[in-house]
Amino acid sequence: MPYNAAMSARPAYITTPIYYVNDRPHIGHLYTTTICDVWARFMRFLGRDVFFLTGTDEHGIKVEKSAQERGISPQELADENAAVFQSVLGKFHLTNDDFIRTTQADHERQVQHFVKRLLDSDAVYLGEFEGWYDEGQEEYYTETQARKLEYKSPVSGRPLVRATEQNYYFRLSAFQDRMERLLTEQPDFVRPEARRNEVLGRLREGIQDVPITRTNFTWGVPMPGDPEHVIYVWIDALLNYITALGLGEPESDRHRERSGYWPATVHVIGKEILWFHAVIWPSVLMALEMPLPDCVYAHSFWISEGQKMSKSLGNFIDLEAIDRYVDTYGLDMWRYYLATQGPLGATDADFAANHFHEVFNTDLVNTVGNCASRVTAMINKYCDGTVPTESPDGERIVLGEMDWPTQAAEAVAASIAAMTRFDLAGSIGAALGLVRQVDGFINRTEPFKLAKDPEKSRELGAILYQCAEAVRIASLLLWPVMPGRIEQLWEALGLAIDPQAGGLEELAVWGGLEAGTSVEKVALFPRVDAPVVAKA
Ligand code: MSP
Repeated sequence: MPYNAAMSARPAYITTPIYYVNDRPHIGHLYTTTICDVWARFMRFLGRDVFFLTGTDEHGIKVEKSAQERGISPQELADENAAVFQSVLGKFHLTNDDFIRTTQADHERQVQHFVKRLLDSDAVYLGEFEGWYDEGQEEYYTETQARKLEYKSPVSGRPLVRATEQNYYFRLSAFQDRMERLLTEQPDFVRPEARRNEVLGRLREGIQDVPITRTNFTWGVPMPGDPEHVIYVWIDALLNYITALGLGEPESDRHRERSGYWPATVHVIGKEILWFHAVIWPSVLMALEMPLPDCVYAHSFWISEGQKMSKSLGNFIDLEAIDRYVDTYGLDMWRYYLATQGPLGATDADFAANHFHEVFNTDLVNTVGNCASRVTAMINKYCDGTVPTESPDGERIVLGEMDWPTQAAEAVAASIAAMTRFDLAGSIGAALGLVRQVDGFINRTEPFKLAKDPEKSRELGAILYQCAEAVRIASLLLWPVMPGRIEQLWEALGLAIDPQAGGLEELAVWGGLEAGTSVEKVALFPRVDAPVVAKA
């Protein structure tokens, strides 16, 4: 879907999964939140009104058990770990607009409101259930599914257990046809394509009603009218996407300020929680007669140094490991690596120290950093540190057979279009392509040679203007992923830009850099001697 101006009028709503509080943040959580952040920043810079939500999932048997083991209350455990998740956000320059916690009173009230509505409309009923239960994931499987999985949890590998419960059920089976139609008629509803096919395949095997309450623990939202039952953590959790906007409380401030963000533009999630988001969630919304999100984007997983991350293998990318990367390469490189090398497609991505080092050198040191330093250094050396003019006689001097305005416009359009469809690497790649063109242009036109000939000063000026202007335009597109270093570059180029105020497209028009502006030399990405080594 290409970006067009009309879209900027429509508010955008992007969400991460809400993370379980019985875990500590690691690369997986940071990955999802970071890619959402890059998209949210880019869309805001385009002038779109964006709401970016993340938060924590705090109920359920796992939290209850972990708290018990530590001899504290589930709420204390939740408070402690939610604070850790929150503290990470500022540190990684993540610009979420709200952080929802499922133990918030207004969330709990709204969960009860929505479940009551489902009950009243008969989408939820009381019944008996028997199935194969994954205790770690709190997920039920049918006999067919369980057999395929060899009666083992696909996540933990632990045996599935046979469980019978009297429970409230959601009539998921009633939505089979509508779900199949949705996925067929709206192919972008689940992305990437391979994930959509997976969901369609599982849908065609047939779907059964799902229990949405539990009686084997108490740490959760009580079922309205039957408090022996606690609302299943997944229903509670999925509803966060609409409770955060106050959709269950039409009189609230939240509703007044945020209801316009629904339906969500994209729910970004990991592939392991696709079924909940691609089938159960839209069916619940259909039952509530509410509009559906535009897209559920399920990325794949980070593995580490070629293997599944595990604490015992020592390849787990936890906050301590992340700190080593950030301390060595800077936060912007961390964000750049996640955004460009991450598992946004259907296959897992390998986080590897050597690869990280290589990408840093190739893309940031030798391309963005080197180009910015070459151009600013030449302007200092040959033009007294002020931006020269591209058209001394009122007409642009064209050199090196380079139609810069067209090249730049193409890169900008490609970068915007890619980001709009959530292709982060494509968007960033288009910006980097523009920077590479500057390098090639310098090599072809050899301004350092022209500088020796006073008669060529007009050409020299035009070349350096064009280089600086192309770098400026590329920098606008790179800001969402590397805000820190790009703002440093803007300062060196004498630019005062406020991306929060929008205007990316206007700013990215060729010719925006003003002749006469003072330019300082910059060194954006200092070299790093050797890759980070895992801690012994
Ligand atoms: N609480 C549920 C989600 C409820 S959303 C209504 C949950 N939480 S979680 O803490 O387990 O977080 C899962 C998410 O973390 C994944 O969907 C993914 O976004 C991220 N990741 C966890 N490990 C990951 C990797 N190794 N690689 C990439 N992302 C993964 O599930």
